[in-house]
Amino acid sequence: MSNAIRIDGKAKAAELSEQITAETAALKEQHGLQPGLAVVIIGEDPASQVYVRNKGKRAEGCGFYSVQHSLDADVAQDAVLELIDELNNDDRIHGILVQLPLPDHLDEQTITQSISPAKDVDGFHFINIGKLTSGNVADAFVPCTPAGCMLMIEDHLGADLSGLKAVVIGRSNIVGKPMGALLLKANATVTTCHSRTPDLPGVVRDADIVVAAVGRPNMVTGEWIKPGAVVIDVGINRVEVEVDGETRSKLTGDVDYDSACEVAKAVTPVPGGVGPMTITMLMFNTLRAARLSAGLES
Ligand code: GUN
Repeated sequence: MSNAIRIDGKAKAAELSEQITAETAALKEQHGLQPGLAVVIIGEDPASQVYVRNKGKRAEGCGFYSVQHSLDADVAQDAVLELIDELNNDDRIHGILVQLPLPDHLDEQTITQSISPAKDVDGFHFINIGKLTSGNVADAFVPCTPAGCMLMIEDHLGADLSGLKAVVIGRSNIVGKPMGALLLKANATVTTCHSRTPDLPGVVRDADIVVAAVGRPNMVTGEWIKPGAVVIDVGINRVEVEVDGETRSKLTGDVDYDSACEVAKAVTPVPGGVGPMTITMLMFNTLRAARLSAGLES
């Protein structure tokens, strides 16, 4: 029997989006300021195309000024840097996001570090990483996926995670590392695991909070989960399944949802968990960037 709560990221994201939309309307009315988001996509990666389209749609839905720059897969690095320089100096734009991964010939670090820290709504600039990891979280732009995960964890465990053990599976710059920093800031005792961690199931079994961000479909099963744990599944894996003799493609997380629900207190589904929250936090960061640019927030 499954007793776990299904953490409804879609509903939470819709609620937050509504607040952001209302605050955006008030910002326009009271200060004549419209938050602006520029999304840059390079190449034809189909998954990235979908994510970027969704980001643009949501930005428009919130009442933002929204632009998308689509560059060819073989674009020269200087041309990318030139575009970012223009966006850094464009007063209509408060947030800039360059969708990752980039084609191999482009240097991710040079490109992400060329975005002005004040417009870095992804939270990938060293200035923002430094603020996050040195305890100045309130002043940082926090990467969107971990920020969204944190809000869902807080809903179930409160803002102070003192005494709780958290395990993050995955050490990426986008999710694993900033996730660990946020959990630490909230007083959890944090272990970050990765592909070379010995006895991963044993480590996970000790955790009150599990955040899985590895990109391996259904890797974390109920047998790995401590009874009563809160489980956050960041994975978005496309897998082929047989339905009525037909092969179909479906999305699945890094967590085996059904078996995890047998043991855990609460689990995020895929889709409908972390994904919608990530986009919402991007809108949150962009609204904040706009307010900061006008001195309306400190
Ligand atoms: N690719 C996958 N996730 C992200 C993200 O949060 N930001 C950017 N820029 N690219 C991504």
